[in-house]
Amino acid sequence: MILTNKVAVVTGAGRGLGLAYARALAAAGAAVVVNDVDAEAAAAAVREIAGAGGRAVAEVSAVGGTQAAEALVARAVEDFGRLDVMVTNAGVLRDRVLWKMTDEDFDTVVEVHLRGTFTCARAAANRMREQGGGGRIIVAGSPAGQRGNFGQTNYAAAKAGIAAMVRTWSMELAKAGITANAVIPVAATAMTKTMPAFAPHIEALEQHGVPLPDALRKGEGFGTPEDVAPLVVFLASDAAAGVTGQCVGIGGDKLALWSHPREVSVAYADGGWSAEAIAAAWPVSVGRAPETVGL
Ligand SMILES: NC(=O)c1ccc[n+]([C@@H]2O[C@H](COP(=O)([O-])OP(=O)(O)OC[C@H]3O[C@@H](n4cnc5c(N)ncnc54)[C@H](O)[C@@H]3O)[C@@H](O)[C@H]2O)c1
Repeated sequence: MILTNKVAVVTGAGRGLGLAYARALAAAGAAVVVNDVDAEAAAAAVREIAGAGGRAVAEVSAVGGTQAAEALVARAVEDFGRLDVMVTNAGVLRDRVLWKMTDEDFDTVVEVHLRGTFTCARAAANRMREQGGGGRIIVAGSPAGQRGNFGQTNYAAAKAGIAAMVRTWSMELAKAGITANAVIPVAATAMTKTMPAFAPHIEALEQHGVPLPDALRKGEGFGTPEDVAPLVVFLASDAAAGVTGQCVGIGGDKLALWSHPREVSVAYADGGWSAEAIAAAWPVSVGRAPETVGL
């Protein structure tokens, strides 16, 4: 029970990864505020956690704006006396290629993922700083945010922004003993199980208990939400007090540390670069081995 006496909020915890996080945090001893926009799903999650001997309450709201974020923190404090861990996991997809993506597609995804992560982390940081004793902010990134992905302008932007916020918060919150890290998960959920490469294997797992093959669990780092949840428990624990500003990948049998962007090749021209000089230098200098994109 490595999280005894800790209090956590998990957004989007009614199903999928968030539900696995809430279950695992509760099983490790934490009291959990289960947030979801779907009231039924949140209530079922709370019943299940309580049935297994854990402590949980539901707080139904659509995360994104400040009011919902502050209500989540207030709920943790009112019901359990404090807040130690904020897990911002809620998410939606509105996939379309750039030229078909509407303003609404873009804004919806940015509102839930990027603004929701910002407002929930800010509300948590305020409470944790006031309370003293540090804290944990654990956010949800994505391989799409790290690498870009076809059809995901909105989602890749939001997830890349979330990784950028974590790097910034790890500096800003260090003095208060609050860590900020991104989990970069890959798992079979409503969001991913219809992907053609994964669908037949997930069906075999869910309907006949056939384990996912090594080609998925190791090769693709793809497994179940329960494979991802232990990373959230670790990051929430005292054992991870020194881990901050990181993007940690997990899925199936794989655990990985993602690199942060940095200059991989540099060149200098006395007095600065002209367009002609860049054109001449590009193929033999910094442009010789361009970075790859995509998953
Ligand atoms: N499944 C994966 O392989 C994968 C990969 C990379 C990143 N992620 C990220 O992990 C997180 C969870 O994904 P998932 O696959 O479990 O998705 P999911 O669709 O199974 O679950 C998302 C949950 O969030 C809830 N939700 C949606 N909008 C909300 C809002 N505004 N406020 C509160 N709750 C809201 C939904 O009702 C749902 O219960 C997301 O941030 C997602 O982008 C997932």
